[in-house]
Amino acid sequence: MPLKAPLRHAMIRKLGMFDRDGIRDHLLRLDPETRWTRFAGATSDDFITGYARRIIRMDSAVFGVFADGRLRGIAELHGWGPEAEAALSLERGWQSHGIGDELFVHLLWAAKVRGIRALKMYCLQSNARMRQLAVKHNATLIARAGDVIASIHPEWPLPPLPPVMGPPPPLNWAGAGSVTAQQT
Ligand SMILES: CC(C)(COP(=O)(O)OP(=O)(O)OC[C@H]1O[C@@H](n2cnc3c(N)ncnc32)[C@H](O)[C@@H]1OP(=O)(O)O)[C@@H](O)C(=O)NCCC(=O)NCCS
Repeated sequence: MPLKAPLRHAMIRKLGMFDRDGIRDHLLRLDPETRWTRFAGATSDDFITGYARRIIRMDSAVFGVFADGRLRGIAELHGWGPEAEAALSLERGWQSHGIGDELFVHLLWAAKVRGIRALKMYCLQSNARMRQLAVKHNATLIARAGDVIASIHPEWPLPPLPPVMGPPPPLNWAGAGSVTAQQT
């Protein structure tokens, strides 16, 4: 698939308190369909603003992908114990370029480092990309009315995640092994 030029300058890193405004702006920029699929239903701007304010917590790990000068997607891990919940969002122009998969691997590593045994993700049954992503990473899918619970046990050998050594190099979506990020 032809790549957009800005993607070559994208990078993933762990987000902190100082990123809360960027997270809010990213979530508010989601087009209506993406917002619906992310939150599995209708949400107001006020809800999004409040959600973004609470997203960075002691028990959360959030990774962000920066492209074209802005935060374009986030991967959230919430919970510190045997079980945690995960969620992903990417702005439309950055979907279907493999970025969701890269973010997913960061979540799996963060979960493994924390000793989390079961990672749950909730998505709509119609969300083929999210289901495919979960299955690719050995999730068990349980269908409920209208949605799907993906249950992942991050214990098997995970896809490699390069350690951070100095400033992260730019992502090269056309090539392999150029993604870097901070781990928990
Ligand atoms: C779901 C989401 C995170 C996936 O990220 P992405 O970067 O768009 O997806 P990727 O490009 O990594 O593709 C994921 C997989 O889906 C496959 N895929 C892509 N488009 C597809 C489609 N229309 N139907 C089925 N599978 C599809 C890809 O081939 C890939 O599988 P593979 O790696 O085995 O080839 C992203 O699309 C998104 O933010 N969607 C809106 C919010 C959302 O749905 N969040 C999930 C609920 S929490």
